[in-house]
Amino acid sequence: MNALSTPDPTPRFVTELLPASAATIARAAAALCAGHLVAFPTETVYGLGGDATSDSAVAAIFAAKQRPRFNPLILHLPDLEHAEKFGVFDERALRLAETFWPGPLTLVVRRPPATAGGAVVSLLASAGLDTVAIRVPSHPVARALLKAAGRPIAAPSANRSGTISPTTPLHVRDSLGGRIPLILAAGKCPVGLESTIIDVSGEPGTPPRLLRPGGIAREQIEALIGPLLLPDLDPDRPTAPGQLSSHYAPTLPVRLDALNAAADEALLAFGPDMFVRGGGERLNLSAGGDLEEAAANLFAMLRLLDQPHFRAIAVMPIPEQGLGLAINDRLRRAAAPRL
Ligand code: TXA
Ligand code: MG
Repeated sequence: MNALSTPDPTPRFVTELLPASAATIARAAAALCAGHLVAFPTETVYGLGGDATSDSAVAAIFAAKQRPRFNPLILHLPDLEHAEKFGVFDERALRLAETFWPGPLTLVVRRPPATAGGAVVSLLASAGLDTVAIRVPSHPVARALLKAAGRPIAAPSANRSGTISPTTPLHVRDSLGGRIPLILAAGKCPVGLESTIIDVSGEPGTPPRLLRPGGIAREQIEALIGPLLLPDLDPDRPTAPGQLSSHYAPTLPVRLDALNAAADEALLAFGPDMFVRGGGERLNLSAGGDLEEAAANLFAMLRLLDQPHFRAIAVMPIPEQGLGLAINDRLRRAAAPRL
């Protein structure tokens, strides 16, 4: 560590990696209720969960990830009925929730007025905003864990801040091993990209805003509630405070829209690639050009290609439709100038 790097205050843990079962889910739920952190699978990416009503558990999430405190967390709940205790759902929010939950959609809604005796979400979790982001995941292990914990679980992706999100238990261990006590393991995340985030906290009449493209395609959402406002991409004024432009970054530089690759570049292909020349190593997101398959492979393949003997990762063009919107969003961030 040099004199300028920030000291790392996180206590060291022996990280246990346990295959998910009824018994280990019960143990993980008890750990969450005791204020400890648990990494767990969702259909999108692995999350790093902590009791959202506990300031110290939420602070531990920020510390383990080395995440800036101004970047708020998503609350995970088992169903809409529970979600309505922690956020105000207007008619549009209800339609979205009823259509896409459980599943990879996060809704930003207003915080309800504090009620006497009700569980209160830590202000630290929502970085002091008067809105909260809420999601009801569909992964069976996440659902069982949330039911057993019986409280809102704040969970960002289970990786160090600014790095590629984890889609397998080993990705979590590589990024947070020694910094968290427990990883509940259940193989590869089926969607592979984070949830789509929609801000429905505005006054009635203002269109909802897409804050982050993700596992549910924009087209599907617009088919239900009409046109969305698009993310405000001014990097100096983040609307979702997490929308910092350099994010999801592998160690190597990323070159987009590549139609060939140099011998010292790794190639991340998409679709039939037999006419593409070069590349020191080649992985194909989906040889058949299937965007869902590509989304599920994206983060794992970026990690596999991120090796020091290459100069860069060259990525073939990916269509800007369906899940391609979210795939290209993550790739543009991976290619953005590093802070
Ligand atoms: O799929 C997912 O959403 C995964 C899994 C674990 O559920 N979680 C995830 O969390 O991607 P994270 O922390 O990596 O991203 C959460 C995003 C951030 O960009 C944050 O700024 C935004 O949600 N967010 C949270 N609360 C917000 C709020 N009140 N207003 C606007 N944006 C908010
Ligand atoms: Mg993240």
